[in-house]
Amino acid sequence: MSLESMVREVFTAKFGEAPAFIVRAPGRVNLIGEHTDYNDGFVFPMAINRATWIALRPRADKRVLAISLDMDDQREFSLNDLRRPADADWIDYLVGVAWALRERGYALRGWEGVAAGDVPIGAGLSSSAALELVTARAFFEVSDFEWDAAAMALACQAAENNWLGVNCGIMDQMISAAGVEDRALLIDCRSLETTSAPLPADTAVVILDTGTRRGLVDSAYNERRKQCEAAARHFGVSALRDVDETAFAERGHELDELSRKRARHVVTENERTLRARDAMRSGEAAALGKLMIASHISLRDDFEVSSPALDAIVDCANAEDACYGARMTGAGFGGCAVALARVDSAEAFAERVSAAYKSATGNQPTLYITRASRGAETVHP
Ligand code: GLA
Repeated sequence: MSLESMVREVFTAKFGEAPAFIVRAPGRVNLIGEHTDYNDGFVFPMAINRATWIALRPRADKRVLAISLDMDDQREFSLNDLRRPADADWIDYLVGVAWALRERGYALRGWEGVAAGDVPIGAGLSSSAALELVTARAFFEVSDFEWDAAAMALACQAAENNWLGVNCGIMDQMISAAGVEDRALLIDCRSLETTSAPLPADTAVVILDTGTRRGLVDSAYNERRKQCEAAARHFGVSALRDVDETAFAERGHELDELSRKRARHVVTENERTLRARDAMRSGEAAALGKLMIASHISLRDDFEVSSPALDAIVDCANAEDACYGARMTGAGFGGCAVALARVDSAEAFAERVSAAYKSATGNQPTLYITRASRGAETVHP
């Protein structure tokens, strides 16, 4: 049964009538432009065909009641009494989004509904952003405000940063809000301007989940952010986005070795991401694949956020003839890689990479052949 039918049926059984609305928001995979968003730079993700769904109806009071089929749990809260959690639970994503929207002056009404999703949790495919954006969409349907994708993404990022205490950039929320079917989205993380581009003809995007998860990712992420901010200060700019390859060549040697490597990743990654846009515009799969391979090397050697498992799965993918290029995707240290493969051999490619990676590392991977989907939306009525 599809998730849409599932949330509809459970809603109807529980509340005794059909839902007034069904909303969804997708997870994402980033094709290129990694660890650039918090440097005001460029990212190039696509929304994937895995999402979180909510079937709901408005309530007359100021309460939100949510049933999570994934968590097998029912929780509620009052919009008049939003409490910051000591330890974030799934409902705190909903509370955090309510808080962030209220902070921004949106008048919210209550609702009740049933949620379910198929974005794997903790895999680096932005299940949190999907839950945040689908919550924002639920509030949008029952309240009385305009839907603006960038404004919603910023509110959801604020929920994540200030309510849940996770210091992420804007990429995940922005692509979950603004994804375009069958296209990847170049996002300028300073202006939040977006430009969509179709994937090269005859290619498939394959997500390669290493099956490994690393606990220290938050502290390593925050450390990278600080190193980037310090490097930007050295160049006298507000963010590394403002340092191009020429400026880096002239003054990069003034930095200590570690800062130089971190900055070099961001400067070259922004450049690669813009070149990826050109490659995508002219449908050059091979050129795009090469940029993805270079991105991985830079993340591995200069930014140092890869892991043995990620390196192994990327090597297995790149060894295949059907692969144009593969790289780690998301924050790193575990989770997923992404590959651009020939569409007609994508299934065989996934099977071969899976077997090769398993025999090299002993880990059980999961491979998804994915399609670019639309961002947060209402599918019913
Ligand atoms: C995580 C964060 C994003 C981004 C990526 C790295 O997914 O949530 O904001 O910084 O890492 O590119």
